[in-house]
Amino acid sequence: MICVFAALLGAAMFGPYIQNVTDTGGLVVWEGEDLSPVVRAVVAPNGEFALKADTVRVGDDDRVRVRLAVRGVEPGSHVRGHLLDTDSTIVPLSSFSFTTPDPDAAVRFLYFGDSGSCSGTQRTLSRLINKLDADFAAHAGDVIYPSGERKRYDECFLAMYRPMLSRTPFFPVIGNHDIRTSDAAPYLEIFDLPIVKGIPENHRERYYSFRWGPIFWLALDSNDALEMRDTQCSDGREVSDKNRYETVKNISLELREESHQYRWLVKELASAPAECWIVINLHAPPLSTTYHESYCGLYKALQAASLEAGRKIDIVISGHEHDYQRSWPIRMDVPGDQNDPASKKGRGESWPMEFDAAEGTFFIVSGGGGGRKMFRPSPDEGVAWIARGEKKNHVMQFFVDDRSILLQSIDSREVLLDQVRIVR
Ligand SMILES: [Fe+2]
Repeated sequence: MICVFAALLGAAMFGPYIQNVTDTGGLVVWEGEDLSPVVRAVVAPNGEFALKADTVRVGDDDRVRVRLAVRGVEPGSHVRGHLLDTDSTIVPLSSFSFTTPDPDAAVRFLYFGDSGSCSGTQRTLSRLINKLDADFAAHAGDVIYPSGERKRYDECFLAMYRPMLSRTPFFPVIGNHDIRTSDAAPYLEIFDLPIVKGIPENHRERYYSFRWGPIFWLALDSNDALEMRDTQCSDGREVSDKNRYETVKNISLELREESHQYRWLVKELASAPAECWIVINLHAPPLSTTYHESYCGLYKALQAASLEAGRKIDIVISGHEHDYQRSWPIRMDVPGDQNDPASKKGRGESWPMEFDAAEGTFFIVSGGGGGRKMFRPSPDEGVAWIARGEKKNHVMQFFVDDRSILLQSIDSREVLLDQVRIVR
């Protein structure tokens, strides 16, 4: 067990929250306006730790930000710790825990997105999110509305999800709202994400990968999708004006061939462990029936990368649309077929409907985390690929092992909106 003593002088503390967990360690972060640097810490015999305290500017105030790096533990280790006031070591101010990934263990993860409005609906859904236990959580981006402001992380993210964040490693992608303050500087300060070697310095933490048990996870930055909207959808439809997106100034993050991000994606897909499921997380949806419509350029980029790498993608999950949409299995290896699902049958009369993984890729939009404006998918109005759609705030949970993925979409009242099992 790791035990950390911090001096806290009575003011609000934000965190602790868990970042960048690997099979040998992780990072625990917390900050406060009157938090003095940590004074003492004790670590378990099979691990090491390092503490670092920095001063950061939040709004008009300086704040101490503490990062506890845990290293050298075994895969599958359960790490726990308590933050204690130096004046009173009886009741911890806060506690944290996480379990490092075990390559042979089944995994449960949470997913939600487009949450950071501080709305009543975000708060209502957060009560469910804070109740759910998982090995890790991932987010579709738009962590903070309207513009990814640093100060709004306090109330609309760190306090909102405090119970979940203190025990669940959190892996987001950057949404179009998150980049509006200084090209996502607050997002990049709050989050410590896996570092990809050999990419331009200003691409760091904007796209990354990790393995967690049977999952190989790829997080992409779709914020230069505007650069790709000149491509027509494969049904010949012109991309509409609503399908606009924002660019990150001075940072070329498009997924065109020969871009850094695209070349990295192909390399990662080609070298991903054969036994892993491939999950891709990005903010803008390659397929969508609602307000922004499909980002066909992104669909084509993922399709090209999958074909070039010779590796099937199992799940593509995104947000940006404030709703829930789930496709039938899509055969990405057949050019231009996203409107022609491979199978609309599945097996089983009731939930969970079961599919063979070989039938195709599932595209999911899960952007119902609490954004103020909701959109209504219409699965029965002639778009062939969509199997289920809901205008509901929701969180998803996935249960993944070597043989199967069970995915569930759950609304704020804990009603199941969708449930699918993918087997291999
Ligand atoms: Fe968005």
